[in-house]
Amino acid sequence: MEKLKQRILEESSVLSSDVLRMDAIINHQVDPALTMEMGQEFAKRFAEQSITKVITVESSGIPAAFAAAYVLGVPLVFARRKKTLIADPDVYMERVPSFTKGIVTDIMVSKQFLSSDDRLLFIDDIIANGDAARGLIKIIERSGATLVGMGIVVEKSFQAGARTLREQGVRVESLVKIASLDNGEIKFE
Ligand code: G4P
Ligand code: NA
Ligand code: NA
Repeated sequence: MEKLKQRILEESSVLSSDVLRMDAIINHQVDPALTMEMGQEFAKRFAEQSITKVITVESSGIPAAFAAAYVLGVPLVFARRKKTLIADPDVYMERVPSFTKGIVTDIMVSKQFLSSDDRLLFIDDIIANGDAARGLIKIIERSGATLVGMGIVVEKSFQAGARTLREQGVRVESLVKIASLDNGEIKFE
């Protein structure tokens, strides 16, 4: 997505050789028109796949996931980050480490929102090591739903997440792939 590359070049900043700050367009402020274009692109790439729901993890995945769900005309389910330790039999829960925050969090989805008939499109804003993605994929597997594929706004292809998922047979479609952030410079693939 050329327009997105342009916006990343203009409005993001390289924090280190592995972290890109994208608060102005993804992680703190969003441009609704640009986000709707992301949704259209995901919907186009996964058309004819009989998607029944879009799924993501709160919080930064929600805008792009919402846009894709809107275009596809299906509900959006977003996994919550659980704040209590009370076990609940009605939810699927997975523990995931967080790359930028350096902590572990628990993500959960109520069993009532996933069924074995579902064909899910998993949308996320950024993929780095893929830990959050793996957690949500475990939840999807436990529910018996089908993961049709993943749509990622920004893939950092110098980190292993997307590659590992593709090797496992998951179809991963990224709108933009970043090959390197070395020397403060954004290099697209
Ligand atoms: P992954 O599963 O998405 O690959 O991510 P990983 O666990 O490696 O990283 C966890 C969090 O760090 C994710 O946000 C992810 O979006 C964010 N992250 C990873 N690399 C970058 C980066 O280069 N720039 C920015 N801005 N964020 C990055 P999260 O913890 O799920 O939080 P939220 O943003 O959804 O609230
Ligand atoms: Na994030
Ligand atoms: Na995210």
